[in-house]
Amino acid sequence: MPDESRLPPHVLVLFGATGDLARRKLFPGLYHLATEDRLPSDYVVIGSGRHSPGTDAEFRDQVRAGLEEFVTDLDDDIAQGLLERITFCASDADDGADLVKAVTAAEAELGDDVRRLLYLSVPPGAMRPLISMLGREGLTERARLVCEKPFGTDLESSRALDATLHEVADEDQVFRIDHFLGKEAVQNILAVRFANGLFESAWNRDHIESVQIDVPEELTVDGRGSFYEATGCFRDMVNTHLCQVLGFVALEPPVHLTAEALRNEKAKVFEAMRPIDPSRVVLGQYEGYRDTDGVDPRSSVETFVALEVFIDTQRWQGVPFYLRTGKAMADTRRTITITFRTPPMGMFGDHAEGPNELVLELTDDARMKLDLFTKRPGPVMDIVTTTMTLDMGGQDPADEPLEAYERLLLDIMRGDQTLFTRSDEVDRLWRLVDPILADPPPIHRYRRGTWGPREARGLPGQRGWRLDDA
Ligand code: BG6
Repeated sequence: MPDESRLPPHVLVLFGATGDLARRKLFPGLYHLATEDRLPSDYVVIGSGRHSPGTDAEFRDQVRAGLEEFVTDLDDDIAQGLLERITFCASDADDGADLVKAVTAAEAELGDDVRRLLYLSVPPGAMRPLISMLGREGLTERARLVCEKPFGTDLESSRALDATLHEVADEDQVFRIDHFLGKEAVQNILAVRFANGLFESAWNRDHIESVQIDVPEELTVDGRGSFYEATGCFRDMVNTHLCQVLGFVALEPPVHLTAEALRNEKAKVFEAMRPIDPSRVVLGQYEGYRDTDGVDPRSSVETFVALEVFIDTQRWQGVPFYLRTGKAMADTRRTITITFRTPPMGMFGDHAEGPNELVLELTDDARMKLDLFTKRPGPVMDIVTTTMTLDMGGQDPADEPLEAYERLLLDIMRGDQTLFTRSDEVDRLWRLVDPILADPPPIHRYRRGTWGPREARGLPGQRGWRLDDA
């Protein structure tokens, strides 16, 4: 295990500290990093937000309740060690005076060379004014700024946000989070592609017929209706998580695995993405969405998106990429399917051979499946589909993957931007998506627990979606 104790002391200021993400992911993430001794030896966490949850003790009780809910086998000593370092200090876009005092006092206690980590887990509309306040108050000095997705709500707001950020910080201080990039299995796409001659040489239009990136979710938007009303499925999932995964699937081999080289290649993929054809986009809304708390009873916000995109490069010319995601669907999966071309000759009779499919499941215990065609045992030359399943859990029981947010928190403290999105990528993705959002195609209703609207079924052509009958 790397020796993270050499990380400099940190003051971590968490805006949105009483929110859902902090409760479900960020505090549990810090706890897990503490259990593995991966946090700096000296650090404090200052929760912040407009409304104080009460005294520090009351805030700690809230954080503890979240840990008890989201961590299995909570170790009391470790939890206590974390909780003791947590305080709360109210602040808002107009007034950061108390926060400055709290940060300065914490830094004085922690000694020299203290790093500031300013984590903005706030809705897109609240981000700009808060960043200006941090700049005005001098808190962005020596700081890393972490922005939760979505980065803006359209091209204009994203550019405005970027301009504000760059008024107070340099790009190398900015960490735009897309937590899918922190998933072990997403990083594994790079390993599968570039560490295996078998795939590396076949990863192109000559051998690949199509790609699907399919992220259905069973969960509904209950409990986060007003966030979802303002965001919708496209912004929440498509030009963020799904496109980032697509970037890893499609990028050219980076010269090195450094942040700059990798992000250069990913940005080129988005640059080469063809403008999206609205007639190849299907939007849906699940029945009952409009009854959710915080949702307009006549809402036309989409909870489902399926679309086809193309990447106009030598490698991918003519290969369709199908992206699909939605809430209240039949299953919860994060599946990439690479469909290879069928052999040119039907040597074994009509349709005996189908396409080989490589299926990557982006789960914590990452799995990979490869559909192959082999001979059915017996006296006849019959062809059957066999599936090779690879369990990609570590060979060593000590190879525990880090949860996405844990990995990303650690990378921020190390100053490694590899798994964070860069401003040119985000800008390009908004340029592609803005026209669709400005003039969206019709929205179709779908029943909960299904695979979305009927209109999306045929989008990938005759073969359909891999997951429908998986
Ligand atoms: C979040 C979205 O960023 O990602 C949610 O806001 C979505 O709507 C979630 O459910 C999915 O993340 P994960 O890690 O559970 O696949």
